[in-house]
Amino acid sequence: MNAVLEMRAISKTFPGVKALDDVNLEIRPAEIHAIIGENGAGKSTLMKVLSGVYPYGSYDGEIYYEGQLSRFRSIAESERVGIVIIHQELALVPFLSIAENIFLGNEPARFGVIDWDAAFARTRDLLRTVGLDENPETLVTHLGVGKQQLVEIAKALSKRVKLLILDEPTASLSDKDSAALLRLLVTLKERGIASILISHKLNEISQVADRITILRDGSTIETLDCRAAAVDEDRIIRGMVGRDMAHRYPPRTPRIGGVLMEVRDWTAFHPLHAERPVVRNVSFSVRKGEIVGIAGLMGSGRTEFAMSLFGRAYGQGVSGRVRIEGRDVDVSTIDKAIAAGIAYVTEDRKQLGLVLDESIARNTTLANLPGIARATVIDEDRESDVAENYRRSMRIRSYGIGQQVVNLSGGNQQKVVLSKWLFTDTKILILDEPTRGIDVGAKYEIYCIINELVDQGRGVVMISSEMPELLGLCDRIYVMNEGRFVGEFPASEASQEAIMRSIMRSKERNG
Ligand SMILES: Nc1ncnc2c1ncn2[C@@H]1O[C@H](COP(=O)(O)OP(=O)(O)OP(=O)(O)O)[C@@H](O)[C@H]1O
Ligand SMILES: [Mg+2]
Repeated sequence: MNAVLEMRAISKTFPGVKALDDVNLEIRPAEIHAIIGENGAGKSTLMKVLSGVYPYGSYDGEIYYEGQLSRFRSIAESERVGIVIIHQELALVPFLSIAENIFLGNEPARFGVIDWDAAFARTRDLLRTVGLDENPETLVTHLGVGKQQLVEIAKALSKRVKLLILDEPTASLSDKDSAALLRLLVTLKERGIASILISHKLNEISQVADRITILRDGSTIETLDCRAAAVDEDRIIRGMVGRDMAHRYPPRTPRIGGVLMEVRDWTAFHPLHAERPVVRNVSFSVRKGEIVGIAGLMGSGRTEFAMSLFGRAYGQGVSGRVRIEGRDVDVSTIDKAIAAGIAYVTEDRKQLGLVLDESIARNTTLANLPGIARATVIDEDRESDVAENYRRSMRIRSYGIGQQVVNLSGGNQQKVVLSKWLFTDTKILILDEPTRGIDVGAKYEIYCIINELVDQGRGVVMISSEMPELLGLCDRIYVMNEGRFVGEFPASEASQEAIMRSIMRSKERNG
């Protein structure tokens, strides 16, 4: 069979890191080809080589596209032949319309004037193909992430894509949006478009992939053919981490003590619409040594709740009471919340979590400078020791603690965010999607760290969209829907069905 694409013996070095070492990849016509591997394995780098982000001359090896030796010097050159990459971070312009975003840079022009009628009509067609019935004039900022992702694909289709590359497209999508996106890949495949899918969600991969290439430490390990033989998640994991993983969740014997934090009647309103409640009368508690989960669908208000609790970082008209170890505490600013013993580890590592142009070391110690200071002067040796410890235990793939965070792979950035909060001596950690975009092996490490934290008598509140993760880890799970807590289950009674049922029941009640 003729390959659409062959990447042969690709190597790429950054100062101090060999990101790709003799990698081979072959993509056949109209196949969905998954690329998987641990954080830092080189997946994004390989795709950037392919799409010309890293131009010809900056890597070793050869790229054959539709049988021809290709030397892309820019993204524009690879796009011209039908290779379109959708990056880990979305790239649409929020305050332009859908149509403007799609035709930005390639507007249909008549006599040098943009023909907007044509652009709108064409946009409507493209949107229909990706399953959206949005108005082309809608501003992108008004769309959810799921729909923005589909607009990105519509934009790719407008460029007559033949090979579509998606780098973790479903990382921040709800289950429903992810399913829609995967269905779209299958539809595109039926129209002859091949796609490369990078994802840490193994269940999705085993659903749609025709073949899977596994990268480890910058090298190709193997390519599995899912049509020839059934490939299950355990098989994929073995290829990724190089060993069997008998358990996805570390064993733990909970030692749960008295109430650590108690929240009563927490309410918060939308930051722009003072009359719209987003968090409604939420009451809950966390005990010493306890891992408490908050389950809910995307948009149920979990992040808004956590952020409003953490120094009113979200919303207006916030009210309610917080008691920590039996005492009323003031959490009205972020500083006060931290002083009271609360930390919030955000799901959005780029916006709230990291100073990108600083080193791993500085980012790790950022939230607890007193922890490394001697008489108000930062003790750099101590900073290095602390950061090096976390780098080892979290297996942060980098050449050293001096590396700028901006150059780390997505998952490794997330590990730095976690280290930063682990290094504070907070009593309560609120973790918002802590394992998003993180590979299975590293997830296990993070679970171990969470277990250690609660063993020390701290309390952890975990927000996660991955229900198996909540079920595998938590001692108790609250269910949130439309701003309210609508269910509570001890680990022994929690199941996916029970959680979904309480969400559905509350929807019925609210009509
Ligand atoms: N611009 C850069 N400068 C220096 N090192 C880099 C740069 N980009 C990537 N690296 C390094 O190359 C390696 C591969 O990174 P890459 O982003 O390709 O990983 P990945 O497989 O996409 O991981 P993830 O699943 O976490 O997204 C990592 O060790 C990373 O730190
Ligand atoms: Mg990546």
